[in-house]
Amino acid sequence: MTRIPLVAGNWKMHMSVADARHLVSEMVPGLQSKIGVDKVICPPFTALLAVASLLEGSDIHLGAQNMYWEAAGAYTGEVSPKMISEFCEYVILGHSERRAYFNETDQDVNRKVQAAFDHGLTPIMCVGETLEDYESNRTYDVVFRQVNLGLNGIEFELGESNVPNLVIAYEPIWAIGTGRAATPQDANRVIAEVVRSALAELYGDNIAQKIRVLYGGSVNGENAKDFFVQSEIDGALVGGASLKATEFIQITNAAAA
Ligand code: PGA
Repeated sequence: MTRIPLVAGNWKMHMSVADARHLVSEMVPGLQSKIGVDKVICPPFTALLAVASLLEGSDIHLGAQNMYWEAAGAYTGEVSPKMISEFCEYVILGHSERRAYFNETDQDVNRKVQAAFDHGLTPIMCVGETLEDYESNRTYDVVFRQVNLGLNGIEFELGESNVPNLVIAYEPIWAIGTGRAATPQDANRVIAEVVRSALAELYGDNIAQKIRVLYGGSVNGENAKDFFVQSEIDGALVGGASLKATEFIQITNAAAA
């Protein structure tokens, strides 16, 4: 089974509109038309419109970093799936920073995943254990629970060329932004034994084998290829290193190789 790798850059709360324009202009020549990898850029909401216009006509996709689950209404400060679907094809949901700092629960993530599907968006649903979970051997329980509750009751859709409209990112929280990545072998094992086996229980082996599962946490231009040679790792969700054009291009090239 060959899954097309996907590399997504999560800019988090960085970049003014002018900075975003500058960074994307630097990235486009290196990313555009790179075959064998799907490329996704996820700027903050305020830069989506500007980045969307720069990506028009390219094969680089746009994603948001979060959204609410209602389509419209009196929800001051929120952004809806309907709004982001005007610009974006992807949306990151349940990132550990959302879970930790904004109290997002598995139930919230579940509602958002459903709303993303309802609006034709491809969710990149994030799962991953804390350092405490990791050190007390609870990784499998925590990740299994997050996959199951996040996808609870969600019916599956096969998208274009039978590629599922769902991406999972396994991001051990202790590896995010710390420079301490998981070992590629450990990440591969968690993805194989927990993420993909939970997906197989939910959707059957055939679909589970088609769903892209990314690794995230301190991926950079140097270590990316070590993750991408692993059988179960289908790309990366990249934070810090996605803010540098040359490094993000290097990671994308490693995924395409
Ligand atoms: P990092 O972030 O690459 O800076 O560790 C990854 C993420 O939070 O998705």
